[in-house]
Amino acid sequence: MQTVTTLDPLRNALAALRRDGPVALVPTMGALHEGHLALVRAAQQQARHVVASIFVNPRQFGPREDLSRYPRQLERDRDLLEGEGVSLLWVPDVEAMYPAGYATSVSVAQVSEGLCGAARPGHFDGVATVVAKLFNQVQPDMALFGEKDWQQLAVIRRMARDLDLTAPAASAIHGVATVRDADGLALSSRNAFLSAGQRAQAAALPRAMDRAIAALRSGQEQAAVLARLAADLIDAGFASIDYAEVRDAETLDYTLNFQNNSARLFVAARIGDTRLIDNKPV
Ligand code: PAF
Repeated sequence: MQTVTTLDPLRNALAALRRDGPVALVPTMGALHEGHLALVRAAQQQARHVVASIFVNPRQFGPREDLSRYPRQLERDRDLLEGEGVSLLWVPDVEAMYPAGYATSVSVAQVSEGLCGAARPGHFDGVATVVAKLFNQVQPDMALFGEKDWQQLAVIRRMARDLDLTAPAASAIHGVATVRDADGLALSSRNAFLSAGQRAQAAALPRAMDRAIAALRSGQEQAAVLARLAADLIDAGFASIDYAEVRDAETLDYTLNFQNNSARLFVAARIGDTRLIDNKPV
């Protein structure tokens, strides 16, 4: 696996890979876990070469968020990706990504606005901007993202569709199912911030979501089910709930209807200082 940190070597390495067959991009912020490795494995099923990127993108962190404490472990990440057979690792630094005088931002309305977009103003502009740049830098045939960040996936697909991107096209942006620990907690780089006690409490999140989904499917009133879900999480030791909402899986509009997984339950909740998010089909 070759590691490159500037654009010219990236382009040279990509030209060689492209001659050999389709290229898939797996964008990450590092601190890799099995969820990221599942993206790499899914990419390998569909492409000749997998290119991974590691860039902790300052533009998607708010002023009071955890940019400085975001886990950075490049050597370990590099070994993991090499072990998975990744062909090329792109690790730009902040100067390479946003050189002095950088002035452009990509903003996707509608799907960016609720859920994490409401709780984290500017977050999805930062995501859309860096992903647009990563797409242009790598020009992959396809790109893969985890369904744990469902809203992020929706924003990126909408950006690709609205901007008529071709490398990759919106139809070649693939979601990969959330990987969970044995107790159901979705894997996340932020789980590393949890103490042992908080980690045990955090398992209440997927359990409470499963109970809520069962209640919704049995016809119970949505507002009451969501209020009970929030109360369950507070009882389990969560400090606060950013949101607990049922939204259409594609448009992310509020919905009272759910048929054939057309809607999802989205939750963001804080345990100590750590914000956990999850979503499941209703
Ligand atoms: O999901 C992530 O790790 C990041 O938001 C992404 C897509 C790599 C953009 O920085």
